[in-house]
Amino acid sequence: MNTRHNQMPLYTALMEYSQHKKPFHMPGHKLGRFGDMKQIDYTALDVTEANGLDNLYEAEGIIEAAMDKMRKFYGAYKTIFLTNGSTAGILTSLMTMCKPGDEVLIARNCHHSVWHALILIGAVPIYIQPEYNSDLGLMTKVRKDTIQEALLQYPNVKGAIIVSPTYEGVVSDVKGIAEVLHQAGKALIVDEAHGAHFAVNSYFPTSSLKLGADLVIQSMHKTMPTLTQSALLHQGTALFSYGQLIQTLRMVQTSSPSYTLMATMDYARHYVEEHKSEIEIDYIKPLIAMRERLQNLNKLHLLNLAHEAYDISKIIIFTTHSGIDSYLLGQYLEERYQIVAEATLPHYVILMTTVADNTATLTELERALIEIDKELSLIQEPQVADLYCSQLNQIIDELPTIQKGVYTPREVHYGMSSWQTLKYCLGKVAAQTIMFYPPGIPILYMGEAFQERHLMIIEQYANRLKGIQYSGTEIHCKVLDIPLK
Ligand SMILES: Cc1ncc(COP(=O)(O)O)c(C=O)c1O
Repeated sequence: MNTRHNQMPLYTALMEYSQHKKPFHMPGHKLGRFGDMKQIDYTALDVTEANGLDNLYEAEGIIEAAMDKMRKFYGAYKTIFLTNGSTAGILTSLMTMCKPGDEVLIARNCHHSVWHALILIGAVPIYIQPEYNSDLGLMTKVRKDTIQEALLQYPNVKGAIIVSPTYEGVVSDVKGIAEVLHQAGKALIVDEAHGAHFAVNSYFPTSSLKLGADLVIQSMHKTMPTLTQSALLHQGTALFSYGQLIQTLRMVQTSSPSYTLMATMDYARHYVEEHKSEIEIDYIKPLIAMRERLQNLNKLHLLNLAHEAYDISKIIIFTTHSGIDSYLLGQYLEERYQIVAEATLPHYVILMTTVADNTATLTELERALIEIDKELSLIQEPQVADLYCSQLNQIIDELPTIQKGVYTPREVHYGMSSWQTLKYCLGKVAAQTIMFYPPGIPILYMGEAFQERHLMIIEQYANRLKGIQYSGTEIHCKVLDIPLK
């Protein structure tokens, strides 16, 4: 055993992991525990653009036919396979929507691929703050009113990119946001990386594709039973040219798109379509029943929002007012039950369910949560989760709802910068995004200027921030070595 470990450390560890762990994390196939996935011969699918096998970037044969079936499944105007994750779709979408110097509305909870796109393009971000639930300590939806207000302040923006659903499953009013943007002649891109399963069952919220978004990006690998990096770029409308999207995709994605990924997306789509009623019986109904019972937890708290505003596949367990922080809950789940969460933040744990779950896996999760919940009244831990939540609230209170940076991410990326003591930073431009981590809430984006309140927050929460250097006593931040504009 040890020899195998030494010779193939990665392979051996993964084989052991897959035998023992019960994943409530990505990818959505849950270690191949969906349908007959384990029977697929993945090497037989690993080919290249040989005769008759089509070409993703000039699709007119079998790839085009498979993408068209996917388009119909999701109700899109046109669908493109991605083999480098949603990242490739986000880069492509923004690079198609904007040219250098264009302004664009960016929700502050966007994935870092959005900043990377801005660096590549040289576009100008106008940051908008999503709504924040201070009882839960949770960033939620982007408000239609915020978009409306931002359009008044910045009438030249090309459009907006928002995240819906969020990592925690909160869905924005995409229909309302699309209407506001379209009335002003602007485009809407929705990062639906966590919503590829919405088309599977009506208990999930409606996909942005059906609510007016122009471009929608989905990571199939996150919530559907497909392999990591498999994703989709959908056109919801004909606003952008398919040819231009493909041309741009070629610039950011590999020239050898994986046939294994494309073929398994085709396979999974068909399997799910064929088994929709079994999925409802084996997964959706038990999931709903489990969620109802978990409402009765004593100390732990299950997040539950209204149907169209929330993705029920996410099991978000809050530990605020429970006496423990979520790291301990995550540790209990893994050590005692082999249940591995998708993510653990100080005040909540994210557990992902997918079509690869069923009554048996859900029962195991429910039993574990109920048992831990019963023990909690006996545990006297410092209220870490509560403290964290109140600190987070103070920080979010200080953030502006709409804000334009002083310099663009591209100017910052290519500009000269240096690490400076915190005091020196006042009035200077941040050369690195500073975020409260976890969960990854940016306090200051690269290109925004340090104000007094930033300095106070950074000083107070230095040990919780990413993007600074903190020795325990001294704080240094990276600033641009050029004056404010
Ligand atoms: C909201 C969001 N968008 C986009 C991405 C990028 O997805 P991918 O890993 O498929 O490139 C992620 C990944 O974590 C994400 O959480």
